[in-house]
Amino acid sequence: MAATLEQAARALSDAKNVVAVTGAGVSEESGIPTFRGDHGIWVKYPIEEFGTIDAYLNDANRVWAFWCELSELVKDCRPNPAHYALAELEGIDRMETVITQNVDNLHQEAGSTSVIEYHGNARHLVCLQCRKRAPFDLDNRTKLAPKCVECDGLLKPDVVMFGETIPNYALFEASARAQKCDVMIVVGTSAQVFPAAELPFAAKERGAFIIECNREPTDFTRLITDAFLEGPAGETLPELVTLVKAELAI
Ligand code: OAD
Repeated sequence: MAATLEQAARALSDAKNVVAVTGAGVSEESGIPTFRGDHGIWVKYPIEEFGTIDAYLNDANRVWAFWCELSELVKDCRPNPAHYALAELEGIDRMETVITQNVDNLHQEAGSTSVIEYHGNARHLVCLQCRKRAPFDLDNRTKLAPKCVECDGLLKPDVVMFGETIPNYALFEASARAQKCDVMIVVGTSAQVFPAAELPFAAKERGAFIIECNREPTDFTRLITDAFLEGPAGETLPELVTLVKAELAI
């Protein structure tokens, strides 16, 4: 473990272009449940009933209530040391961009300024008819799924549901960044959901050094990870940053 952490710190110190890919695990220590695993969101709320665009179109009010409940839970959550560590890497010129699958805004709140939101952001709503966006005002939420004030179309949380495509900008920008980086830090993602899970493979194919922070091994660990930092990212990432700063004498 110690050797692995040191290898990772050295790779980061020597790197010219670092990108992070994050998933639900990076926000777990902020109190937000992950999607999979024993206490995962999709265990309590099956994907077919709550996670797909078809589910929303079939019973928008039921899925809307689920998103209101989730947003209520996330509302008071704050960034944890893992988010701050990634922001600090940007501050010392060791992070170009964070590509996140999370919709909780916590990387931005921690101070990361370059964040690609691969699966959208739950603080906004989008109209399924005219594509106009509106803020998701939790304090004034309606009991039923809301309608667009412009065109009366159905609004939905501006997050990518299963069956929808990744927003164009996020898809292409993330792919370009993944292919350009020489070190990628993959944090708290189970490697189960594509196309996000392709990004570390694309980076590896172009020769990037892959650092993975996770509580448990994933398909990445078995296939492409160069340095596996096992444990809660809120502990491993700050340790890594401390070592990088020591390497760089800052
Ligand atoms: P998952 O719930 O699938 O995986 C979370 C990962 O984080 C697992 O590998 C855990 O072992 C790890 N983990 C948990 N706590 C951790 C911690 N404190 N530190 C480090 N690692 C930790 O979440 P994602 O991979 O993000 O998409 O899921 C990907 C997508 O599936 C989500 O964006 C969402 C979901 O369906 C959509 O809704 C479109």
